[in-house]
Amino acid sequence: MGGRAGPTDAVSLPRRRRSPMIDTLPAARPVPLDPMAEALRLARLADHRQGPNPMVGAVVVADGRVVGAGHHQRAGGPHAEERALAAAGERARGATLHVTLEPCAHTGRTGPCVARILAAGIARVEVATLDPNPLVDGRGVQALRAAGVAVAVGAHAEEARELIRPFAVWVTTGLPLVTWKVAMTLDGKLATAAGESRWISGPESRRRAHRLRHEHDAVLVGSGTVLADDPELTTRLDVADPRQPLRVVVDGRLRTPPGARVLRRAEHPTLVVTRPGAPAARRAALEAAGAELVEVSAPDGRCDLRELAGRLGERGCTSLLVEGGSAVLGSCLTQGLVDRVVVFVAPILVGGRDAPDAIGGVGIPRLADALRLRRLRAEPLGDDLCLTGER
Ligand SMILES: NC(=O)c1ccc[n+]([C@@H]2O[C@H](COP(=O)([O-])OP(=O)(O)OC[C@H]3O[C@@H](n4cnc5c(N)ncnc54)[C@H](OP(=O)(O)O)[C@@H]3O)[C@@H](O)[C@H]2O)c1
Repeated sequence: MGGRAGPTDAVSLPRRRRSPMIDTLPAARPVPLDPMAEALRLARLADHRQGPNPMVGAVVVADGRVVGAGHHQRAGGPHAEERALAAAGERARGATLHVTLEPCAHTGRTGPCVARILAAGIARVEVATLDPNPLVDGRGVQALRAAGVAVAVGAHAEEARELIRPFAVWVTTGLPLVTWKVAMTLDGKLATAAGESRWISGPESRRRAHRLRHEHDAVLVGSGTVLADDPELTTRLDVADPRQPLRVVVDGRLRTPPGARVLRRAEHPTLVVTRPGAPAARRAALEAAGAELVEVSAPDGRCDLRELAGRLGERGCTSLLVEGGSAVLGSCLTQGLVDRVVVFVAPILVGGRDAPDAIGGVGIPRLADALRLRRLRAEPLGDDLCLTGER
């Protein structure tokens, strides 16, 4: 610990795109520095590999120049502030620290950052957002102010909060942030009446879907999807070492075949979630095939997905991607398990009363109780439209 910032922390300050106007300015004119934007850029370098901790970046600025920078790379490893301060060394004395998340004042797996900041002689701290962790939540800022350090909170706050969203939900509720991912036809079908669903969406949407898997700690489908599509649920992306989420199948009657693709290529064992009284022989066969069996209660005959979300939270899953199918999405809706929605809409119509609708289950009877999404955005993706929204 306390190692110097690694090569990925090397600072290259954002340069303004040259316009003919700027070309006429003297070459030595200083480039405007937005240290918090730089700290956010560094935070993103963790690329979701630091879980269950949040992505955090920090920059130390002295005399208008960046003298140290770093980001949090792995849970249990040095925090962003520690890396940035180590890189700055003596130059941190009297300098300003810009950090995307409030420094911690408690001792977790690493020592408190506030103590490090004080020891380094930092004069001013700019914090993008407070840490929602009940162990911190303003205490870091208070401790710095009490020691005479000037603190300002709020630069780029919205971006910084977006960056730590899964962590914020998990640390305050014990549940992962739940995102639905659905590929549907323009008439809202998940598959044709004959059961064909490959491929509804185009290659650009499918690439985005793999990126979503990379960004999530766990991915969940129902046994109906396993039986219909036999998905692998792995991340297949053109990046070095893509993250493989924990794969979860909810399967009350244990209909998942022991030879299903979802049980192969295990980085983690696949969780098969079932209800009390599931057939013992099928249980044994799935365990023999490498699955980890998890039992949750099923008051109405269907596995309690909230209880499952709590179990995933206990294992340190801060984000869960629900990929279907229709019945499971329906249960998530009525159990209030929807934080974000990503819908790929393909420009095709298939119709058919027996074709599964995107969301099944009993639904919400009253319009007044419908789940109304905020911040709805539409983005063309190849021939498809990608719609995103949040609760
Ligand atoms: N286009 C897409 O993005 C997409 C994605 C996924 C699936 N699909 C399509 O969707 C179809 C499958 O959908 P589906 O509705 O038949 O299956 P599903 O939602 O994948 O699985 C439903 C099964 O999950 C089990 N389950 C356990 N707990 C549950 C709970 N709380 N709520 C609901 N189900 C629970 C139930 O089996 P037990 O009764 O045994 O517990 C239930 O029959 C297929 O046609 C597939 O191709 C499309």
